[in-house]
Amino acid sequence: MIDPDNTLRRNFIKNTLAAGVAVAVLPADNISSAETQPVAAGLIRGRKVRVAVIGCGNVSGSYFPTLVASPHVELVACCDIVPERAEKAAKKHKVPAFFPHIDALLAGPEFDLLVNLTDIQQHHQVNHKALSASRHVWSEKPLGITHVQARELVELAASRNVQLLGSPTVVASPQFAFMARMVREGKLGKVAAAHASYGHLGPSWSSFFYDKDGGTLFDLGVYSITTLTGLLGPAKAVVAMTGIVTPTREIQGKGRIQVAAEDNAMVILDHGDGVLSHIQSGFNYFSAREHEDTESTHHTLSVVGTKGSMHLAGYDWGPHGVDLATAESGGHLQRFAAEPGDYQWQYGAAKMAEFLATGVRPRFTVAHAAHVAEIIAGAHQSQATGMRIALTSTFDPVVLD
Ligand SMILES: NC(=O)c1ccc[n+]([C@@H]2O[C@H](COP(=O)([O-])OP(=O)(O)OC[C@H]3O[C@@H](n4cnc5c(N)ncnc54)[C@H](O)[C@@H]3O)[C@@H](O)[C@H]2O)c1
Repeated sequence: MIDPDNTLRRNFIKNTLAAGVAVAVLPADNISSAETQPVAAGLIRGRKVRVAVIGCGNVSGSYFPTLVASPHVELVACCDIVPERAEKAAKKHKVPAFFPHIDALLAGPEFDLLVNLTDIQQHHQVNHKALSASRHVWSEKPLGITHVQARELVELAASRNVQLLGSPTVVASPQFAFMARMVREGKLGKVAAAHASYGHLGPSWSSFFYDKDGGTLFDLGVYSITTLTGLLGPAKAVVAMTGIVTPTREIQGKGRIQVAAEDNAMVILDHGDGVLSHIQSGFNYFSAREHEDTESTHHTLSVVGTKGSMHLAGYDWGPHGVDLATAESGGHLQRFAAEPGDYQWQYGAAKMAEFLATGVRPRFTVAHAAHVAEIIAGAHQSQATGMRIALTSTFDPVVLD
């Protein structure tokens, strides 16, 4: 939704203040899709998109195969500050060049698109360097750890005439499309509330998940927040409580570390018109299959309205179907959208290459990613201050096929 005059925000603040609720207002820094790059910016015609990958750790093992399989991608280089990881990835995926630092990568063979798979805390500076060098960027979540950082990157991309997109890709699944249609067609009546939960026992291979500016919201809650704002619209305000359940952790190769970022989070979003959603995420949730829980089919996300409810089976990044009950159909749960389609949570960078080669935009937008970054920063601010945090950014409704 575009709010060029900031009317929604002004009305929201006026009404909230009138109700005597404490409000902390972040600096006005709206991004809407209308401000992001036109399709023509940087399209690559007549050849494959030359791709470099930075961050050859755990998630790169899922990304490389999608990039190798893409008819639009030519992998030209990879990079990691642990040089053996870059070398190992280069050998395994037949990447011709590898580098130990982004400066060397940018000075190396020409490439068009940087795929940023580094630590959460490194995303902003890596994205910034690549955009400054006029490269298109795909970033793992988050774009940056504040909305100000995310907005800065969006403006930098526009000034360099390059494209910026980021994870997660959840709105691209057929299950998301089905749920969005149910909301838009009024099948649930007036939508009132939604809930999502995502957690496991936490990664053991890297400490950045638990360091300052890491945490479950940037790593896990980000998926649920993207799906729920995609379904219910941009959030106008956030309140949150977060905590640390496990104060020290054993990390492979590092030993015992102190946990500085939240490993337990509860977030409530106000989507306007009385619509509320709740998201919980944690690194202390029992899960029989741990991280790679794509087999899981339990309900992880629910939306309820005056005439129906729907429940996502499986995680939004690995969905299996949607169970829907409506007054119209007698109130019994029925399974829909059980076909997986071509959706893969790890195909965002390959889809971005396709976009650069064909002009066909993916459903995920940078404005949405920046809004989610603002929500998470707001949740942290709410925990720190005990206040309800007003949000300023918006994004256009997700375009369904
Ligand atoms: N692991 C997963 O299953 C998974 C899934 C989805 C998203 N993600 C996201 O992907 C990102 C990476 O996660 P991961 O699990 O692969 O972590 P990881 O620690 O396994 O890998 C990160 C890699 O980046 C490298 N790196 C860090 N800073 C760098 C820099 N400035 N320049 C070059 N290399 C640098 C590290 O040496 C490491 O090899 C995170 O944002 C995470 O939230 C991970």
